[in-house]
Amino acid sequence: MVIKSVELETVCGVTSVLPENTLFEVAFAGKSNVGKSSMINTILNRKGMARISSQPGKTQTINFYNINNIGYLVDLPGYGYARANEEIKAQWGVMIENYLHQSAKLQAVFLLIDIRHEPSENDCLMYDWINSQGFKPIIVATKADKLKPSQINSHVSRIRQILGMGKEDVLIPFSSETKLGKNELMDLIDNYLLR
Ligand code: GTP
Ligand code: MG
Repeated sequence: MVIKSVELETVCGVTSVLPENTLFEVAFAGKSNVGKSSMINTILNRKGMARISSQPGKTQTINFYNINNIGYLVDLPGYGYARANEEIKAQWGVMIENYLHQSAKLQAVFLLIDIRHEPSENDCLMYDWINSQGFKPIIVATKADKLKPSQINSHVSRIRQILGMGKEDVLIPFSSETKLGKNELMDLIDNYLLR
């Protein structure tokens, strides 16, 4: 898919009503600071579309990006931001859960995990939650440029093992810096939005 137009069409906060979109959606979840917004910018070929920050907790809303008027990329707020207070953490959880539960158009959920680290308890909970909602989580292992190429396979195996992924479950090593995995990711998104 060639990205011809992108519009941040809807931004939902804790008290917002979710949009009843008529086009398909694919969503991106992951720990705060894992690189969700950077990945969305990489996919969209737009540097400043999604806000990026070295401070975790930048994306605190659910952002719906309309692409080419064929579907939406949905940027979910990052979970597990340690410095957020408990009330805010609980609100984020509820927002994400409501969205996964309520969206009639959601086709797939991509879960981003930093390739350098073992999945956290929250990552595992999110993985199981996505599964239990009837979606096959697709893992995007971010910041692959931070590893030596020779280290990638062992980190991928470890992530697969800890999450309990099956052989046929998809994990894509990805980097917003080098664009590793971009084409594979685009092909998957195309398939979900255009089916
Ligand atoms: P929140 O909105 O806070 O949940 O974070 P996020 O998941 O959207 O992360 P964001 O894209 O804002 O990136 C967080 C930090 O990681 C920024 O400093 C980015 O520059 C950096 N980063 C993101 N992706 C990559 C990558 O592929 N490689 C490297 N080296 N750094 C990255
Ligand atoms: Mg973000």
